[in-house]
Amino acid sequence: MKNLHVVANWKANKTAHQAIYWLDAISNQISQPKADSPLADNKKVIVCPPFLAVSKVAEYVRSKSLPIEIGVQDVSRFDEGPFTGEVSASQVKEFATYVIIGHSERRENFGEDDALLKTKVTLALKNGLMPIFCVQDSTTFIPEGVRLVAYEPIGAIGTGKPDTPENSEEVAKSIKSSHPEVTQVLYGGSVKAENIASFTQMPHIDGVLVGGASLEEESFLSLLKAC
Ligand code: PGA
Repeated sequence: MKNLHVVANWKANKTAHQAIYWLDAISNQISQPKADSPLADNKKVIVCPPFLAVSKVAEYVRSKSLPIEIGVQDVSRFDEGPFTGEVSASQVKEFATYVIIGHSERRENFGEDDALLKTKVTLALKNGLMPIFCVQDSTTFIPEGVRLVAYEPIGAIGTGKPDTPENSEEVAKSIKSSHPEVTQVLYGGSVKAENIASFTQMPHIDGVLVGGASLEEESFLSLLKAC
């Protein structure tokens, strides 16, 4: 059985209080003995809360020894220093292991380009964070050092219109063959319990990046059970 990453990207949703409520609601189920748990040994869950909830989520996960890893949704292009309002990779590292870089919402709404994304990847790697680097197709630039890529076609994000598993498989395969450093490719865009398995059963797809369907506890548990 191949290893799967299930990444929950909460975007600008949930207060810290709501984040803990979500964890509380799923913690019993994902901590059950492995045989009945929706979280089998081959699945890694990575939760990416908004920055203000990250420390509380990380503390909760540690205190209950939950099988959840923490990621953030962005990181500064600057190292620590006089950069008002920024969150640096060295600060993120205290609580998180993963960082989403290059999400199309950041490319579109915040003008993030290849050069800036490359700087963010470099700083993340320097600080021991694992970038989850988002691409929109198989020709998107991927900075050196990236091992984990998420293929997220723009028209599939938040629209209820996912790409086909067959096309996603072709894109994942093409990314892996043109970037030998990339060991895992996830699919993202309108993933839900009803379609997750059609993606994760594809040979070159190693998991999913989920937005909307990760917000409600029940729908997230259904996703985990279905893949
Ligand atoms: P969605 O978002 O699952 O709501 O389509 C995915 C993403 O943007 O990461």
